[in-house]
Amino acid sequence: MLRIVVCVSGGGTNLQAIIDGIAQRTIANTQIVRVISNNKKAYALERAKKAGIEAVCVSPRDYETRERFNEAFVQEIDQAVPDLIVLAGFLVVIPPQLIRRYENRIINIHPSLIPSFCGTGYYGLKVHEAALARGVRITGATVHFVDEGTDTGPIIMQQAVAVLEGDTPETLQKRVMEEAEWVILPKSLNLIANGRVTVADGQVRIAE
Ligand code: GAR
Repeated sequence: MLRIVVCVSGGGTNLQAIIDGIAQRTIANTQIVRVISNNKKAYALERAKKAGIEAVCVSPRDYETRERFNEAFVQEIDQAVPDLIVLAGFLVVIPPQLIRRYENRIINIHPSLIPSFCGTGYYGLKVHEAALARGVRITGATVHFVDEGTDTGPIIMQQAVAVLEGDTPETLQKRVMEEAEWVILPKSLNLIANGRVTVADGQVRIAE
């Protein structure tokens, strides 16, 4: 059984896609052991509680320094003894010590086709605003392992989504979520849970 901790900051629709995937068995051999939010008001915490999953908030606001927050955050992760950490709309910089300790065991969902519209400052709606401003015809989402850069880790899966005439950042975000994020995050988890994903020389290999 793959024990996962899911880290969230907001609405938690990607968390919901994981909860539903596990319930419907499209994600096999996987258990969410804890949900961690940096935001007390995140609706994702409600989703976790409704599904009977332990949900905690660790907010940088409650700590005097970033180091203290990082220590508390790492402790919350370690206590859950996860095999994999899933960043599902988690908008906090991950402590470097956590990235080193969980090398190739942290994944992130990003709402564009990396390397477009990613890196520092590109998160949530800002990603879709930038895609529309550039006038791209195709965007999408990416699931990748997390390394010490921002959105630079090995890519596991991507899904393209069309940009349509008249799209707003909000309509584009909704389509990218429905057609890409809620599809490739559960699929990636299922592959990982079934031992089919390996990383070598910075590249992901998916076994047949
Ligand atoms: C999702 O679109 C996710 O891809 C994005 O935040 C949203 C969270 O939505 N993540 C990033 O931008 C990370 N750089 P959700 O809380 O409804 O899952």
